[in-house]
Amino acid sequence: MTMGLIEPAWYRDPQWLQREHEQLFGCCWIFAGLLFELDGNGHRVMTIGATEIIVQRDSGGRPRAFLNVCSHRHAQLSPIGLHGGPLRCPYHGWVYDRAGVPVGIPQPQAFAAVTADPQAHRLTEFACEAAGQFVFVRLSEQGPSLADYLGDEYAFLSRASSGSDRVLDEFEAPVSANWKVIIENALEGYHVPAVHGQTFMQVDGMQRGIEVPVDVFDHPLHSSMTHAAAPAWLARFDRSMAPKIGRWPWRFDHYTHHHVFPNLTVTSFLGYSFHVQRFDPIDATSTRVHSRTLGAPFEGQTEVGAKLIERIYADGHAFTHRVFDEDGAICRRVQAGLAQARRRAVLGDGLEQRVAHFQRAYAQIMADATGAERGCAADAQRGKI
Ligand code: FES
Ligand SMILES: [Fe+2]
Repeated sequence: MTMGLIEPAWYRDPQWLQREHEQLFGCCWIFAGLLFELDGNGHRVMTIGATEIIVQRDSGGRPRAFLNVCSHRHAQLSPIGLHGGPLRCPYHGWVYDRAGVPVGIPQPQAFAAVTADPQAHRLTEFACEAAGQFVFVRLSEQGPSLADYLGDEYAFLSRASSGSDRVLDEFEAPVSANWKVIIENALEGYHVPAVHGQTFMQVDGMQRGIEVPVDVFDHPLHSSMTHAAAPAWLARFDRSMAPKIGRWPWRFDHYTHHHVFPNLTVTSFLGYSFHVQRFDPIDATSTRVHSRTLGAPFEGQTEVGAKLIERIYADGHAFTHRVFDEDGAICRRVQAGLAQARRRAVLGDGLEQRVAHFQRAYAQIMADATGAERGCAADAQRGKI
């Protein structure tokens, strides 16, 4: 058993959240969306910490991120969400191209300096890179490349996106708990019997046998877990289902759960779909969860197989929503307790070691940043702690 490293006040204090916005969300690479969602002329507006950003692809297809503020007189350019069409300011109608340069200005004679040098009036831009379909944004000017920041998770996300080009299920919902409560809940299976007795415990192929989850802590920030499927179930699946539903790009024989610090989780069973969740603080005691399930393409699928996989996906979505509701309800209870808590948590050996890993990364980044001259911890900037 170890003592937790996060003070109860850090889960409930609005001023502490402000520090997280600056020192954590303002410094780490944050998952911002999927490349294929931005095909064509689309753009997504979202918040990272306290900063509203626009993500879109430039004419070369590269993802780019901009502050959601017009260069003219500061109007918010576009509302939160996914939109089609070019960026056009609602106030005086300035139009921006894919690289954030103002290219259409009503009554341009009044803005000679802007039309002579539109590049100088580009939208404020942030670092933006992708691992496969997963687009990330870093608000700080200095920092590691996305590949350096992600370590082995770069290869995982790239491979998980191979062929994933459609969202099968998507929802956004608020949960009345601090974002760290929800992340920590996602990092342990200890609560599963008590909270998900009617759901998780019934999943086909995942009934507990001799297989135990294996945790991976190769990176100081991120962690992952794999849990082998029951061999007898897998053999049955390969015999009766696989020939019908066909092949997909990355097949594996386990359930896996990845946490990319600070607020992205990606999970999959066998690799035929990937569940992607982003946890975005609304305020100190509530969090917006954005959930997407990505589907893989199949080769050699029969008509019967198509119906089978449709059924598997439908069951999967229903399962995801049920589990989400159960986790949301228990996280609310944790937050209610945290409102009054006076001591740090205690964390079980083995069972809660991914929570402990998260807390170490978190505490280190926040402590380093507190002592650093710049807003970001020097070590967080190098991608290691
Ligand atoms: S504030 Fe955007 S065009 Fe004027
Ligand atoms: Fe759960």
